[in-house]
Amino acid sequence: MKVNGTEYRTIWMEGKSVYMIDQNHLPWEFSIFRSDDYRTTCRAIKDMTTRGAGAIGAAAGFAMAQAFMDAPAQNFEEYIADARQTIMDTRPTARNLFYAVELVYETGKQSTDAAIKQAQRIAEKDIADSRAIGSFGNELINSGANILTHCNAGWLAFVDYGTALSPVYTAHAAGKEVFVWADETRPRGQGARLTAWELNNAAIPHSIIADTAGASLMAQGKVDMVITGADRIAGNGDTANKIGTLEKAIAAKHFGIPFYVAAPTSTVDLACKTGADIVIEERNPDEVLYQTGPDAQGVIRKIRVASPGSTAFNPAFDVTPASLISGIITEKGIVDSAKDNLLDLLNRL
Ligand code: MRU
Repeated sequence: MKVNGTEYRTIWMEGKSVYMIDQNHLPWEFSIFRSDDYRTTCRAIKDMTTRGAGAIGAAAGFAMAQAFMDAPAQNFEEYIADARQTIMDTRPTARNLFYAVELVYETGKQSTDAAIKQAQRIAEKDIADSRAIGSFGNELINSGANILTHCNAGWLAFVDYGTALSPVYTAHAAGKEVFVWADETRPRGQGARLTAWELNNAAIPHSIIADTAGASLMAQGKVDMVITGADRIAGNGDTANKIGTLEKAIAAKHFGIPFYVAAPTSTVDLACKTGADIVIEERNPDEVLYQTGPDAQGVIRKIRVASPGSTAFNPAFDVTPASLISGIITEKGIVDSAKDNLLDLLNRL
C-alpha cells in the first residue's frame, strides 16, 4: 500500500535485517523499525511494534530465518531449538505465527538458504491470499454499504492488503461507495489508531465509534454487514479474534445482519477442534489502566485513565461461535460456516 506516494509493505526482510512499520508509533508518526537478529524481532512481536495475525506470522518466519543465519556451527541445533521456542513464546493466539515458525524450521533442516526462501515465500503468499480475499469479499459488498469492522485487519495486520479491509479496498477501487464504522477497539485502540489511519490514507469514508456503539447503530439500520479478521479458526469454525468481536456477532445475529470473518486458510487450526481449545492471550493490565498519545503540545505521554488503586484484567481475544458467523472469506472462496464443514472444505479447495 502507498504511504505518502511510496509503496510499503508492513514488514519485509533484506539480507539479515527485518524491517517493519512501527505500529506503536502510528498514527502519530510513520517510522520503520529495523531488527538485525531474531531476539529483537521477537521483542517487536511481543511489544506489538508489529501486530496482526499475518504480520506476526511473517515476522515469526523471518525471525526463524534470522536464527538460521546466525546459528553458530558449534551448537547449531541447540541454538535453533532455542530460537524456535523463543519465537513461539512471543504471542499465543494467532495461528499464523506457529504456522510460519514450523514451516521455516522444517525447511531450514535442508539449508539456511532454504529457510530464507521459505520465510520470503510465506510473506509473498500472505499478500496473494489477502488479495484473493479482497476479490471474494468484494462480491458480498453492494454499493452504498455501511460496513462495521473491529480491531485492525487491514494491511497493517498483514504483509499487504489485509483481510477484513481487503474487500473494502477492492470495492472502493471498483468504484463502489462504501462507508466503514471502525470500532475503536479498547484497550489498545487498533481501530481508532490503525484502521482509521489506513482508511484515511486510502480516502475511504469512515467514522470511529466507541466499542459500545455498534449494537445501537445496528438497531437503527445503520450497519449493512460486519467484517472482522481472525487470529485462529478452530476445526468447527469457531473463531478467535480481538476482544469485543463476540459482542458484535451476537448483536448482528439479533438484528439479522450478516457477520463475516475474513482470513486466509493458514489461520485455520484443525488441532483445535472447537473454540474452547484456543489459547487466549492475557496482556498487561496497564493496557486497560493507561492510554498513550500526544498531549496538546504534541509530546507523547502515557496517562492513567482508571481509578488509582484498582487493578484490571486484560484478555486480548474472544471466541465467536461458528453459529454466529455467516461465512468465512478465505483466499479459496467463501465458506458458509453454518453448512460447510471446514475440514471438508479445506480438503476440497
Ligand atoms: O493483538 P493484535 O492487534 O495482534 O490482534 C490481532 C488483530 O488485529 C485482530 O484480532 C484482527 O482482527 C485479526 S488479525 C488480522
